[in-house]
Amino acid sequence: MKYFNPVNLAVITCPGGEIFAAEVLSHLRAKYNHNRKQTVAELAKTYNITPDQAALQIDLINKMVIRRSSSHSGTSKTSDQRFLVPVKFTRFPNGEIKSEIEESIRGKDVYIFQDVENRYPVKFSGGMENNLSINDHLMTTFVTIDATRQAGAERITLVIPNYPYSRQHKAKGREGLSASRIGKIFESLGVNHIITLDIHSRDIMNAFNKMRLENLHASYQIIQTLSQMDGILNDDFVVVSPDTGAVDRNKFYASALKKPLALLYKERDYSKINKDASQNNISQIRLLGNVKDKTVFMADDILGTGGTLIKGMRLLKENGAKRIICAISLPLFSGNAIAHFDEAYNEGLFYRIIGTNAVYQEEVIKRQWYVDVNISRLFAHVISRLHQNQSVSGFLDNAGIINRLLSKTMAAEPQNELPFTQEQ
Ligand code: R5P
Repeated sequence: MKYFNPVNLAVITCPGGEIFAAEVLSHLRAKYNHNRKQTVAELAKTYNITPDQAALQIDLINKMVIRRSSSHSGTSKTSDQRFLVPVKFTRFPNGEIKSEIEESIRGKDVYIFQDVENRYPVKFSGGMENNLSINDHLMTTFVTIDATRQAGAERITLVIPNYPYSRQHKAKGREGLSASRIGKIFESLGVNHIITLDIHSRDIMNAFNKMRLENLHASYQIIQTLSQMDGILNDDFVVVSPDTGAVDRNKFYASALKKPLALLYKERDYSKINKDASQNNISQIRLLGNVKDKTVFMADDILGTGGTLIKGMRLLKENGAKRIICAISLPLFSGNAIAHFDEAYNEGLFYRIIGTNAVYQEEVIKRQWYVDVNISRLFAHVISRLHQNQSVSGFLDNAGIINRLLSKTMAAEPQNELPFTQEQ
């Protein structure tokens, strides 16, 4: 019988993560509704009763289970609110933030959603709207985790597709190890589990003691999007890594698509820090490989100012690339990045940028050159499996489903042994 009534599953959203959480929740609710329908049909068949009678029995048992659960608040929720815990967020005049959990979550398995790069106005109590910086969002996350722990949650999972400060994962000279330190803070506040997307470096988790990190990949949804782009995968196609740090990621795409791999190698001058893509700190960039007359695909984890990609695309064009498509798991579009991409598109530097909905964006998704890819279903699947203490490994390595997708769309022979795996 399918599991359909997770009475202990609770979702809390920080203001920045509300939109992504709503998408994931709609998949979760649809999944449990589907499971319920299947269970009703199964029971009706087994006991030779009508589906209505079976549904009545199920509702009766559910009511008994919920009444027994000490954490139930007693209020009945509409289907739109199912799993969602009301939280009051207050922003004080001096900028401090307070989170208050407004119903009992004692003993619950709580999933806290946050999008620290959400630059759009978010709502606080009293209808107040504020734009928060990444550090404000981070502080909101800290106080919300703490409130959740103080309220007696049994297990806390932080759903944070964009892991904050992930690019500060190694210390050179007198720098800090900020990415790992933030993880340590999450851990000390009581987070048991983090679910994130294409994290910049898995080394970040080496600093954690008990907290687990599940690193999901957007590769399946990205390849699916590519396969729907007008025969593009049948072009003379080459995968290019935009820098040495992205080689493994792009090697995965090259093996999955069975296409050659080339590499851009860049030198950075770290004395220059700029918000502007046109003036970033790359001092030299070289191409290893051949892109002449080819369709080029580049994947990167993060698009910040966009400087990395724009410089790379310009060099690829100078080397004869026919058309360029980039895929970004975490499209931040910081500073004037959107305007620079508008210019680059008008200049003919690229064909499409594919980005996921893991970072909330309102402007860029309206651009003709931008393709928005929804990855919320993947998060819903992983949450439902973690909640039931089931294995999630099938969702960490997309090689199998990509192979099946491509054997249909590219008319290639399905392979018994996969020649590639995705780092988990
Ligand atoms: C760097 O190693 C990352 O993978 C990205 O390439 C980088 O963060 C992108 O930043 P920007 O768009 O500002 O060049």
